[in-house]
Amino acid sequence: MILITGATGYIGRHLVARMVAQGERPRILVRDAKRAAEILPADKVELVQGDTLDPKALKGAVKGVDTIVHAAFITADHKESAGNHYEDTNVRGTGNLIRAAKEAGVKRIVEISGLGTKQDKPGSYMQGRYLAEQMLKDSGLDWTIIQPSVLFGKDAPFIKGLTDLIRTAPVVPLIGGGKTMFQPIYVEDVVTVIMKVLEDPARTNGKIYTIGGPEYYSFRQVIDVLLDTMHASRIKAPAPTALVGIGAAVMEAVLPKPPLTKAAMTLFSFDNTTDKRGVERDFGFVPVSFREYMQKHGV
Ligand SMILES: NC(=O)c1ccc[n+]([C@@H]2O[C@H](COP(=O)([O-])OP(=O)(O)OC[C@H]3O[C@@H](n4cnc5c(N)ncnc54)[C@H](OP(=O)(O)O)[C@@H]3O)[C@@H](O)[C@H]2O)c1
Repeated sequence: MILITGATGYIGRHLVARMVAQGERPRILVRDAKRAAEILPADKVELVQGDTLDPKALKGAVKGVDTIVHAAFITADHKESAGNHYEDTNVRGTGNLIRAAKEAGVKRIVEISGLGTKQDKPGSYMQGRYLAEQMLKDSGLDWTIIQPSVLFGKDAPFIKGLTDLIRTAPVVPLIGGGKTMFQPIYVEDVVTVIMKVLEDPARTNGKIYTIGGPEYYSFRQVIDVLLDTMHASRIKAPAPTALVGIGAAVMEAVLPKPPLTKAAMTLFSFDNTTDKRGVERDFGFVPVSFREYMQKHGV
């Protein structure tokens, strides 16, 4: 039995769809069963209502489970809100899940983390992500950590944020001068990697896989691909990261769903890239090209 946390999320939804298409019936932990039934094939999964912040609910969710795919995180593109705090969900929630898993005899947790996760200032978003990985590594359970670069695919959050910005803003800010590098990876390719990791614990246990698409793009080039795809032209203005950070803080203070958050700015503090051939080497397939996907499918 496999339990998926974060099943209503972007990666989780695609993972559930793939498993169901292959005839599997995963158990999924969801916070809102009614909403989950609207976006997931509820009759083809075992739906358990619960929150990783509620150890009691986790007890039932992990019963009889061999492996957990843990994707329940508050990601940097979301502003913190009531019940959605980075530290709470990412650190305390992960800790609760690991404890419940150990008590129930779960063998393995596959954590869906992010590229570039590293130690940072206490209490920061990045430090929470680092601790979520560290707790799993120290848990005594079998583990695999997957760290994808930014994702593309229909309604992918990173790309949607940028296309919304292009649609609404006359000037597109090139954060940090547009030089930060990304290696966008297709959501279905991430799901394929997760499936291969699940199928081969002997080879993948105790490993961190940093994964990205077959090409690198600077932020400026990502914007150019999107402008091309949208047949749009916009003025692109280099904007210092510190200045955009202040803008993000202001947007966070006044908007319920800001296009940019302070935590998301951490994405621009390092190059989000890894070995271009890593997925092919480790998982035996060449991931889809961002530019080709966009040309074929549009935004
Ligand atoms: N999307 C990307 O571009 C991308 C790129 C690289 C890495 N990743 C990583 O992949 C992982 C999954 O990302 P995603 O994009 O799928 O995230 P997402 O779309 O924001 O989904 C997050 C999921 O976590 C659930 N969740 C949040 N707090 C919870 C809690 N306390 N208890 C139980 N469930 C909770 C959410 O449930 P609700 O529906 O109830 O809110 C939702 O199902 C994250 O670690 C992320 O950093 C994502």
